[in-house]
Amino acid sequence: MELKKFIRDIPDFPEKGIIFRDITPLLKDAEAFKFSIDSLSEKLKDIDFDIIVAPEARGFIFGGALSYKLNKGLVPVRKPGKLPYKVISEKYSLEYGEAELQMHIDAISKGQKVIIFDDVLATGGTALSLKKLVEKSGGEVVAMSFLIELSYLNPRKILSNDKIISLIVY
Ligand code: PRP
Repeated sequence: MELKKFIRDIPDFPEKGIIFRDITPLLKDAEAFKFSIDSLSEKLKDIDFDIIVAPEARGFIFGGALSYKLNKGLVPVRKPGKLPYKVISEKYSLEYGEAELQMHIDAISKGQKVIIFDDVLATGGTALSLKKLVEKSGGEVVAMSFLIELSYLNPRKILSNDKIISLIVY
């Protein structure tokens, strides 16, 4: 299935010069959404890991479905002020601005093997910050996976030692 047909390009959103890759057409198409999850699961099924870490908001949609499909738990990473228990934080820079992510202090156990999942890999700033959160907790990132990779932004440069598995590459 040609998944790019289900991704809508929105020029100049959320800022001038950014092409936003809108996944809502993919999500509302049952076959395309299912095909995405099945294809990602197939790529991840032979990796030895314990848990998936995914950030809001769009990372939750795919991370949740993948956790179910691969029979693993899910750790939600959120923007500041959303998680109710004690958190660890990481500030990072985004393709369009500055941001901060938080994870519960007890979400990952020491030595747990983690797959980071997000909808889009753009500059890699979010993925790097997720990795730092996991490592602060004593976990090990064994792979990072994405629905979409924007290779023209060179995200692999700052993630050079990581195993990166993407489904759709621009
Ligand atoms: C988008 C996307 C990734 C991140 C990738 O999230 O969902 O999380 O940007 O960019 P990077 O590789 O340059 O860090 P956004 O901040 O728009 O959050 P949202 O999913 O909550 O809308």
